[in-house]
Amino acid sequence: MSTVIDQEQVVIPDDVARSVILPSSYRDEAGIVHPALAWLRANMPFARAEVDGYAPIWLATKHADIMEIEKTPKIFRSGLGEPYINSSVDTEFLKEMNEGRRGLDTLANMDAPEHTKIKNVTSAWFMPANVRTREESIRRIARASVEKLLSFDGECDFVKDVALYYPLHVVMSLFGVPEQDEPTMLKLTQDMFGNSDPEHQRKDVPATPEAAARAWRAAILEFHAYFNELAAARRAEPTDDLASIIANAKVDGEYLPDSFVNGYYIAIATAGHDTTSATTATAIQQLASRQEQFQAAQADPSLIPGLVDEALRWASPVKHFHRIVGEDTDFRGRRLEAGQSVMLMYPSANRDEDVFDNPWEFDITRRPNKHIAFGYGPHQCIGQHVAKLEMRIFFEELLPRLKSFELAGPVNYVEANYLSGLKTLPIRFRKA
Ligand code: HEM
Repeated sequence: MSTVIDQEQVVIPDDVARSVILPSSYRDEAGIVHPALAWLRANMPFARAEVDGYAPIWLATKHADIMEIEKTPKIFRSGLGEPYINSSVDTEFLKEMNEGRRGLDTLANMDAPEHTKIKNVTSAWFMPANVRTREESIRRIARASVEKLLSFDGECDFVKDVALYYPLHVVMSLFGVPEQDEPTMLKLTQDMFGNSDPEHQRKDVPATPEAAARAWRAAILEFHAYFNELAAARRAEPTDDLASIIANAKVDGEYLPDSFVNGYYIAIATAGHDTTSATTATAIQQLASRQEQFQAAQADPSLIPGLVDEALRWASPVKHFHRIVGEDTDFRGRRLEAGQSVMLMYPSANRDEDVFDNPWEFDITRRPNKHIAFGYGPHQCIGQHVAKLEMRIFFEELLPRLKSFELAGPVNYVEANYLSGLKTLPIRFRKA
């Protein structure tokens, strides 16, 4: 650990900090965000960003530091504020709209012992052994998605025509939301997480600096209205879906309060599909220019789990989570004060030169692949086995059906600094 240094020396140069923090940077992650993260890892691996319009924040960019922070939840807390960065204007609006309370009663906003109790409600359901029992029904959805892709007659937008819908359909079917309501779920998720992207901004909310906070809140209220009915239906008639497990769970002898049921439902309904579709699209994008890796995975499906992990590392679709410092502490030679925020940069951890050989190479045979795209420690993604299984099945079904494919035009990315990824991916393909 280095010695404590002058506070002035810990402030990241403005252009570098803006490259990491501003949502607009993520429209060109490879050209803007990644070079800035690489510079930080080499020069200021744990330092402060003071970007105009945002509260000052510590940026953790090294794999080892992020893991260290995540496994020290007593100091680096999740329950003391929003788990992701918002501009100062948005933060004020959210506080006002939430009347000073935390935004959502959801896992990502909780600390132990509350977090442990609430996570345990579904942790057995999310274990690999249970998730694998859904393999056949997921495979049916994958086959239908592959047929849809092939129906496009040689050319399609892989994101808009396929990737957005496959994980959505998988998660909603596990969750218990009927198919006809899936477009609503997709729209509300984009309102919540893509709200800095001009294309995703709600038409009924004026495009002012407060728009993102208002859109976020409006989406939550719509989710609540929908989910209150779903929970009531599952209590009246329990089933084996996730919505039913959560609605009927008892913690300390009581049903979860409505706000907790809603928080759980929103987390699963939103975290479960955009992330997976962004990763699936990244795999296709990378294979398009690496046909030898595509052919290798086609010839040997045992390489597909490696493809999934490498796509997770490469895409890191969740760009960060926050922790808030619970008590004054020293970390990596810096003095951290209670109440300060730390931004854990997953895309940076997943290109860390100290952990990955040739981190800038996309390599489906990478072993081991110690990416932390699902986070680490007590908050590690509860849905990781669902996500991995559905991607493996999708590629098992898709790859044998393609003879070749290539990019058919420029790609676009969602303009968002929390959950971002490909927005368009035009491809040309030949059927096998
Ligand atoms: C490619 C797919 C996915 C990625 C990259 C991803 C990534 C993440 C990350 C980085 C976290 C925070 C971890 C931390 O703080 O250490 C997280 C948490 C979470 N994820 Fe995922 N996720 C994915 C898919 C899913 C799916 C399919 C579901 C549900 C069906 C899900 C539900 C959740 C929930 C509920 C949490 C909060 C867990 C907690 O705070 O204890 N995610 N995810």
